[in-house]
Amino acid sequence: MQTIRSLFYSKWSSDVRLDGRTAIVTGANTGIGKETAKDLAGRGARVIMACRDTVKGEQAARDIMREVKGAKVVARQLDLADTKSICQFAENIYNTEKALHYLINNAGVAMCPYSTTADGYEMQFGVNHLGHFFLTFLLLDLLKHSAPSRVINVASGAHAMGKIQFEDLCNEKNYHPIKAYAQSKLANVLFTRELAKRTEALGVSAYTVDPGMVDTELIRHAKRPLQEMIKRFSFFVKSPAEGAYTIVYCVVSPETKLITGGYYKDCAYTESSRAGKDDGTALKLWAVSCHMLTIRWR
Ligand SMILES: NC(=O)c1ccc[n+]([C@@H]2O[C@H](COP(=O)([O-])OP(=O)(O)OC[C@H]3O[C@@H](n4cnc5c(N)ncnc54)[C@H](OP(=O)(O)O)[C@@H]3O)[C@@H](O)[C@H]2O)c1
Repeated sequence: MQTIRSLFYSKWSSDVRLDGRTAIVTGANTGIGKETAKDLAGRGARVIMACRDTVKGEQAARDIMREVKGAKVVARQLDLADTKSICQFAENIYNTEKALHYLINNAGVAMCPYSTTADGYEMQFGVNHLGHFFLTFLLLDLLKHSAPSRVINVASGAHAMGKIQFEDLCNEKNYHPIKAYAQSKLANVLFTRELAKRTEALGVSAYTVDPGMVDTELIRHAKRPLQEMIKRFSFFVKSPAEGAYTIVYCVVSPETKLITGGYYKDCAYTESSRAGKDDGTALKLWAVSCHMLTIRWR
């Protein structure tokens, strides 16, 4: 199975070192985030593993320290469903870190039953988009100060099914777990595009990564028929380490080989959906997100 799979996913590798560089990976206690943290630590980077659950985060950091000799990893608490937690996390980063070269907005929740964040927003839009939007806003000064630096937003091919429902962004009228996930992932793509435009001149670039279908805990909330259908395609499903390749690719590739604002999949630039390239929607989403978070970000 491994051999046949490798025909579809050619194994990408790079020996670029990241000594002296600092990265934050959100949702790093499991899945793609944990593998990303492990890879970056193996290249010598200092990695801050931003995790909702401190116990799980510390356990994951210990796992990496056991597997990677000399790994410089540290777990910190971050709940993207709570703007107070995001503020505390960012404050802690400014108090402890001199630089931040890579912000990897990876954490995600998918297809969960309707619930809301501490600030009252629908959970998938709140965590996947608003939480990362706010985190990036708070950390931007440090990213600018550390330029050249990069923001990597982990989206999904599901963005192509998404529509930004400005009239009901939090799906209060009609919640559909798959549509809400797709909307939040389209928001990731549009956020990257608009962010890239605003920060290019400041030395901060931004990339969207679509990791492909990866065997993680992500579909824990999905309905059983969907879980079973995905299992049937397990032949094509990537391991979490394979799922991390494109993120690492966007970290280590020379800037001249990457397009800021671009969409990356299978370690290559590719096109997002048409909706993912709609600059008018990206701009409107930016303004609405600022309004929801009561921030000014011009
Ligand atoms: N797996 C796939 O096939 C696939 C496909 C396309 C895109 N993606 C994207 O890849 C990213 C990583 O997903 P994964 O597959 O690795 O899923 P995963 O194994 O479920 O990991 C998700 C991570 O996000 C964290 N998280 C969830 N809610 C959070 C919150 N409120 N605050 C902070 N962290 C939170 C989780 O923490 P807990 O463990 O505490 O819940 C976990 O660490 C997601 O953005 C997902 O949309 C995945």
